[in-house]
Amino acid sequence: MNPVLKTIQERSSIRRYKDTPLTEEELFLLKDAVLAAPTARNLQGLRYYFITDQSIIKKINERVIYHSSDAVRARQKERGSVSFFFDAPLVVIITAGDQMWPDMDAGIAVGILSIAAQSMGLGNVILGIPALAFQEDDPENCGQLLGFEEGEKYRIAIAIGHPDTEKAPHKKNFDLIKDF
Ligand SMILES: Cc1cc2nc3c(=O)[nH]c(=O)nc-3n(C[C@H](O)[C@H](O)[C@H](O)COP(=O)(O)O)c2cc1C
Repeated sequence: MNPVLKTIQERSSIRRYKDTPLTEEELFLLKDAVLAAPTARNLQGLRYYFITDQSIIKKINERVIYHSSDAVRARQKERGSVSFFFDAPLVVIITAGDQMWPDMDAGIAVGILSIAAQSMGLGNVILGIPALAFQEDDPENCGQLLGFEEGEKYRIAIAIGHPDTEKAPHKKNFDLIKDF
């Protein structure tokens, strides 16, 4: 199996990280990887917030908690962390305005980041829930904290760090594939 396919097969969501910060080189490699992601019509409307400042992650987490339903909080408890970012040393938040297919662009970019991180021996978990902290009808939403521009919206996030746990990849179901 070639190394890219091996990396894809080995990836799984990691929800516990060591305190070790990422090096400048690791951060650069991740930035370089995400900028290689394609966007529809090459519009490049995505913005990537690489956040290593734990005080900022904490503030966003507090806003997520503020908006969380009891069910979301209970699920998070089961996942073993008060932090919706799992205390990862790096969180990347991907945003976009309403240009062509923004969520698809963001999904592709976060997938590329996930595989890039995995290939570097870094654990990661893709995060949809933090959208709660960026709701446009919330006057205290965290867009201001990150300096979002007019019309810029949270699309997806990913927590990345050195894994402090192991998790087997999920079970594959080949019935999901339809051959014609
Ligand atoms: C779009 C998307 C959003 C997700 N949001 C969250 C999230 O907010 N919190 C979380 O702990 N995991 C989240 N996950 C991780 C999934 O729960 C995980 O990928 C799934 O359970 C399969 O497990 P695996 O990644 O280990 O294969 C998300 C995954 C995707 C693809």
